[in-house]
Formats: sequence, C-alpha cells, structure tokens
Amino acid sequence: MTASRPLHLVERDPEGAAAPDRSLERRRLLLGLDATGDAALDLGAHRAVHGDLSLRLSPPRLRGLLADFDSAGVRGRGGAGFPFADKLRSVQRAGGGRPAVVANGSAGDPLSAKDFVLLTRAPHLVLDGVSLVAQLLGSDAGIVVARADAVAALRRAVAEREDAGVDPLPLLVVPHAVEEVGYAGGEASALCEWLTTGRALPRRKPPRVSEHGVAGRPTLLSNVETFAHVALIARHGPEWFRMEGTEDDPGTMLVTIAGDVARPGVVEVGRGTGIQDVLVRLAEPSDVLQALLVGGAGGSWVPADRAAECSLSDPSLRQVQASIGTGGLYVLGAQRCGLAFSATVARWLARQTTGQCGPCYRGLPAVAELLAALATPAPSAQRARSTLVRIANELFGRGACGLPSATADFVLSAVETFRFELDLHHAGACSGTEPDQRREPPPAAGRDEADADAAYREAAPLRPPVAGGRSAAPPGRTRGHERLAQVVPLALAHTRPPGTRSAARRTRSADLARTPRKPPLS
Ligand SMILES: Cc1cc2nc3c(=O)[nH]c(=O)nc-3n(C[C@H](O)[C@H](O)[C@H](O)COP(=O)(O)O)c2cc1C
Ligand code: SF4
Repeated sequence: MTASRPLHLVERDPEGAAAPDRSLERRRLLLGLDATGDAALDLGAHRAVHGDLSLRLSPPRLRGLLADFDSAGVRGRGGAGFPFADKLRSVQRAGGGRPAVVANGSAGDPLSAKDFVLLTRAPHLVLDGVSLVAQLLGSDAGIVVARADAVAALRRAVAEREDAGVDPLPLLVVPHAVEEVGYAGGEASALCEWLTTGRALPRRKPPRVSEHGVAGRPTLLSNVETFAHVALIARHGPEWFRMEGTEDDPGTMLVTIAGDVARPGVVEVGRGTGIQDVLVRLAEPSDVLQALLVGGAGGSWVPADRAAECSLSDPSLRQVQASIGTGGLYVLGAQRCGLAFSATVARWLARQTTGQCGPCYRGLPAVAELLAALATPAPSAQRARSTLVRIANELFGRGACGLPSATADFVLSAVETFRFELDLHHAGACSGTEPDQRREPPPAAGRDEADADAAYREAAPLRPPVAGGRSAAPPGRTRGHERLAQVVPLALAHTRPPGTRSAARRTRSADLARTPRKPPLS
C-alpha cells in the first residue's frame, strides 16, 4: 500500500472563505428543491418542475419502457449497483404468482441521508417510478417501505395522487421502524420477510427475492433513488439519462457529505465525478484532511490523498478497495482520532446484527470491542491488532446477509488507514485535539424512541407486528443507532443553503491552516 499523507485541499482567501462552485451540481432528482432542502414538492409543483407524465400506460408503451431502462443502463442506487433492467427481467422470468414491487426506503445507514431527502422532499418522483414499474410487471399494488419519519410526507403525497386519480393501482406506504429492527432489517430478503411475516430477518440465498420475495411472490425490490431515476427516464428517455455519468455507469447520483466540512448535506452529481472536485467545490472541507469513509457506515476508509485521486464510480473506487455503497462520503480532518470514530461506527454496526448467524452475532461485537481497545491510547493497543485482523478476515462471506463482510471491510480499512494513529496510541498519545473527538459521546436520552414507537403502532394495521425481528436482536440497538446519529447530526438530512456554515468548524479549520499537525502516515 502506498504511503499516505495529509491532504491540503482548499486554497483559502485571507478571510478563510472558499466560495462554493455549484456548477458541478447536476440537479435532476433534486430539481426544484429549495436550497435549504426544507420544502417538499407537492403534486402541482412536482408536475411543474418535472413535467406531467401519464401513468396509465398502454401495453406497447409499457414494453417500450423496459427497452428504455435497458438502453439507459441505469444501475441500482441501494449499494450493489445491479443493472435495473436485468432485475426487471429476472422478476418477469420467475414463476410463482403476480410479482410484488417494493421500493426500499428503510434508509438504515446513518451516514447516508439521500433516501430520507428524496422521500420527504421529492416523494412524487419515487411514487411515479413505483407506479410505472408495478404496472409494467402486472402487480396489484406498489409498496413503498419508508423509515418512520418519512411516512407522513409520503402519505400526504399518496393522498394527493388519489384525489387527482393519478395512479391506476394502489400505492401502499409501509413504515419501517429501522431504529427498532436495525440496519440489517433493510436488506432485501429481510424486508420481504418482514412484509410477509413481521420478522425482519435476512435469509440465505438462493432463492433471491426476484424469485421468492413478498408472500413467496417474485419481487422487484429496489432502492427509492433507483425508482426516482426510473421516473425520469420514463419522462425524458435513455439518451437524456446518459448525458450524465460514464458510459458504463450513466446518470447522476445523490451523495451525502458529512464530517469535517462546512457544508454537510445531500448533493447530486454525475456518476464518475472526481471526489476531490465534489469535496472542494461543494462541501468546503477543513483544511487538512486525513481520510474519507466512502460508501456509508458499512463502507471503507480511504486515506484522503488516495481518495482524492478517485472518482465516484465503482471501477475507480475498487482500486482503493472501496465502493460507492450508499453514496456516503464522511470526511475526517487531521485533528480527529480516526480510530475513536471508527470504534463508534463499529459498535453501531455490531448492534445491527439480527443474531441469527453465529459468526455475525459473536464476531461483530468482538471486532467492535477490539477496535475500541485500539482506540484507547495505551501500550496495550497494538496487541489487539492481530486478533482484530484475524477475526475480521474470518467474517468475510459469512452469515445470511452482507453485514459481516461490510463490517470486516470497515474495520480492516480502519486499522490500515490509521496505522499512524495506532503507533501514537501505543506511545500513549492521540491525534484527537478535543476530548469529544477521543471518546464516544454519551447516549442520547431516549430521543424519538417514543415517537418512533407511536408512529410504528399507529401503522400496525398495514402489516403484522415485527416482534420476531426485534426479539432476535441483541439489546441496546436502538440506543446505538441514536448514538451514531448524534455523532453525525441529523442536519445531514437537509441540503444547506449556500453561504451558511458551522462557526465552530470554521474556527477549527482556521487554526489548522496555521498548524497542520499530523505527520505523514507510513
Ligand atoms: C445489512 C444490509 C442493509 C441494507 N440496507 C439497505 C437500506 O437501508 N436501503 C436500501 O435501499 N438497500 C439496503 N440494502 C441493500 C438491499 O439488500 C438491496 O440490495 C437494495 O435495496 C436493492 O436496491 P437497488 O437494486 O436499487 O440497489 C442493505 C443490504 C444489507 C446487506
Ligand atoms: S449475517 Fe448477521 S445481520 Fe445478517 S442475517 Fe446473519 S446474523 Fe443477521
């Protein structure tokens, strides 16, 4: 591995201001949204911004749509990047009853706010896509599974559509209390199992959900952002879609930028855009960067100088053992202890296990604790490293879903990227310049637990109770989720207006400009 060094990204004027250059943005999904991201598009505004689209389609037009998705080359935006048209065809090929169509808006990754932004600010775009695909596959309804705090916006949108007679088939909004069932409850087979039995438990594949999903039916399950792109392809055609992005991976994508930046939030750029461009021109990072967590909470750490050479495409990110994942970019400045933050994320990941598979149930807490030991400045820190690497390597490919592999990737990338920090800890020192950067923040005082629970129970008639998924999970998960949400403020859910910035962060950035303190990693 090449030695990495701290990266100075931004040339500032004497006042310390770096003007944002929004020309990099390619607003398609986010078109028409208020710069603060606070105002949702109602049906009238949605039609004015994106153009009207008849959703009562003739059979030839429906067949033409599949061809359009194929030529557009749109890939899934939920993590794996699977070609959407291929997925559609495998559902069509599978026998076993009328297909089900599910939009996955469980949005369980706290380092990615894109799905929440879409569901609450541009709900009609997602619903258009679901309505089209449900017709194309001959489904009896379209289902949108959404985290509890996005449900009200979606239900308002569905009511507007019902009043206006927009959709030829019903659209169901099903709340997913992701804080209760955990991140793994958003995995495709877990979601289908939960919609069928109330137990949000992933199962081994095959069969894939395209063959055996909700109630045993072939199921087209895709991320909500994917459905929103589909709605725009139906309006503007595949050539228009391909005007952004790369030949192999066309279109735009939503990126959630968080961490040591003055402008955290969700932005839309073309696939394949350079990471350095995205950060410098849209996020205003702190002056000296250490590393980037690419792909969300289950993503991989990449030293900042290497990440800056990559683009937002899986082929480019593969060179640094990362992937786009949920589109999260978490920026770690040189003044922070990467091991301390990684330990917090690893604890959160460990709490997401559903407890079904031994290697995951035992292995995830073990690597989380070992990483916490490495994050403590003490001579014993180094000793935990080899055990951590051994256990993490044993997690790859284990279990019924991708959580163990994602966790293993994450922790191994942390020990690799923060080798310098580990040496410091061994000597009893730490890079964290402030106490709150060294240790996990205190648990949240039950914020939203009652609200989420109430919202969940209110929605209960729509689906069976979720007790199975819940009881199988180890205790403390809800709090873990909230703790990470505290570290990554939920302000992420908003796109910031140009010109606003965090005063505290700017002060630290200015100090750092004078005294870059971290020597090169070796
Ligand atoms: C542990 C785990 C959690 C996941 N959580 C989500 C999620 O919150 N939202 C989502 O869209 N996909 C999630 N996925 C991916 C889904 O299984 C599925 O691949 C995706 O929804 C398909 O959408 P796409 O084809 O549009 O990418 C998760 C996968 C794993 C392994
Ligand atoms: S691998 Fe982990 S999260 Fe996935 S099903 Fe098994 S126990 Fe649950």
